[in-house]
Amino acid sequence: MSVAPGGEKSPRQWLRTKSVEESIIDTDDPEQGLPRSLSARDLTVFGVGVIIGTGIFVLTGQVARTTSGPAVAISFGAAGVVCTLAALCYAEFASTVPVAGSAYTFAYASLGELPAWIIGWDLVLELALGCAVVAVGWSGYVRSLLDSIGWRLPDWLSGTSDTNGFGFDLLACALVLLLTGILTVGMKLSARVTSIVVTIKVGVVLLVIVAGAFFVTAENYDPFIPPAQGTADSTSGFATPLIQVMSGYAPTTFGVMGIFTGAAVVFFAFIGFDVVATTAEETRNPQRDMPRGILGSLIVCTVLYIAVSIVVTGMRKYTELTVDAPLADAFKAVGEPFWAGLISFGAAVGLTTVCMILLLGQSRVFFAMSRDRLLPPLFARVHPRFGTPYRSTVLLGVLVAVAAGFIRLTELAELVNIGTLFAFVVVAVGVIILRRTRPDLPRAFRTPLVPALPIASVLTSLWLMLNLPSETWARFAAWMALGAVLYSGYGRRRSRVRQGTEPSAHQVP
Ligand code: ALA
Repeated sequence: MSVAPGGEKSPRQWLRTKSVEESIIDTDDPEQGLPRSLSARDLTVFGVGVIIGTGIFVLTGQVARTTSGPAVAISFGAAGVVCTLAALCYAEFASTVPVAGSAYTFAYASLGELPAWIIGWDLVLELALGCAVVAVGWSGYVRSLLDSIGWRLPDWLSGTSDTNGFGFDLLACALVLLLTGILTVGMKLSARVTSIVVTIKVGVVLLVIVAGAFFVTAENYDPFIPPAQGTADSTSGFATPLIQVMSGYAPTTFGVMGIFTGAAVVFFAFIGFDVVATTAEETRNPQRDMPRGILGSLIVCTVLYIAVSIVVTGMRKYTELTVDAPLADAFKAVGEPFWAGLISFGAAVGLTTVCMILLLGQSRVFFAMSRDRLLPPLFARVHPRFGTPYRSTVLLGVLVAVAAGFIRLTELAELVNIGTLFAFVVVAVGVIILRRTRPDLPRAFRTPLVPALPIASVLTSLWLMLNLPSETWARFAAWMALGAVLYSGYGRRRSRVRQGTEPSAHQVP
């Protein structure tokens, strides 16, 4: 039997929670608190800045071509519904627990320490790995732009995708290191750079929709939902969506199931709205601005995605879309190389902010975890001049840069998705629990229809997870097992709540 803080004996030490008040008090510690400088507008810019990226610029073509056909627009719609349900839960949590750390902090306040650790560890998949994946996508667009002016990097410095032997993605690695430097010197600079880049990116997306609409041909939508076909993978099943393996059907692609398989992949395009919540501690008025920032950026992006995918699949037959730069290539195919170049440029610029904000979110989660002593405390120091958690930013930046140099984009994007969907499940469960355990807390935003809506969020997130390949589940399980080992070896013993260095701690009843 263990001893809980305050000398209480408790058989359920793993479920000790950090109260919402403690989390808020932490932010007032001058050495370990972040300055409040972000407004609602900054949050929306951050949201849109991180949401629109590799998903719409790269995955649209891939999913239309291999999984959903023109119905990729429905896949985007389905993923958007799942994200909206999750966003309504995130908004309540973010406006109730306005401190750094996103789902990690929410889980600590509602579910307990072990679930919080699991979710923090899980967020590494979403944020750090997601950043590496986007950096690789960015590098592809930049190389394509360099190619068009006659500059070509040697293959071995162009990533691992096209080479059978050693490959290192120099540009992706360099981008992450550069962004790490920008984030280390301060939020203000980052927010300014971000808003310029977001303007360019949204401009390019609108350009695709408006200019592309003139080149849409009705025959390209026929069939809108291509009939289901057997896949080549019917022998192994490892790359088959888990739901198909479980149901025992021969693996298929396209058809109605293909829409959901596609939704589980294009879900990547929505990742980021939850990252807005990771900056709650740096928001001037989180109670009012958080829900606005999260829901606002999500709605804008969902509308843009559906419009872009309808236009692009109308410009070019889905079977002919390219997988690397589908938006630009659709314009090349209709004889508009100038627009194609502009789109490639905008995509390359736009992906920069996605990387930057994912990196920012990750360093904040890491910061929150080390402030709670679930990770070594040296990462919880805030730089005296820059006001940033510089140690966690630099450490994570270097690790992500290395990963971006060696990562294979397609395999890992699905791993990012499963980690994020899992975080959604935890947050939705947390909303229900916190309503019961802390009904007294002021909630600037209340999720409607509790518990029905959070339950719907859990079920729809699980449904998308089941539509991911079995191999993704296996990798996810391995990652979480490693996290469990680290928690039992370090965080469980060093935790500040366990040590009793928190002002108070309480147990889930
Ligand atoms: N949503 C981001 C993207 O599409 C992660 O790149």
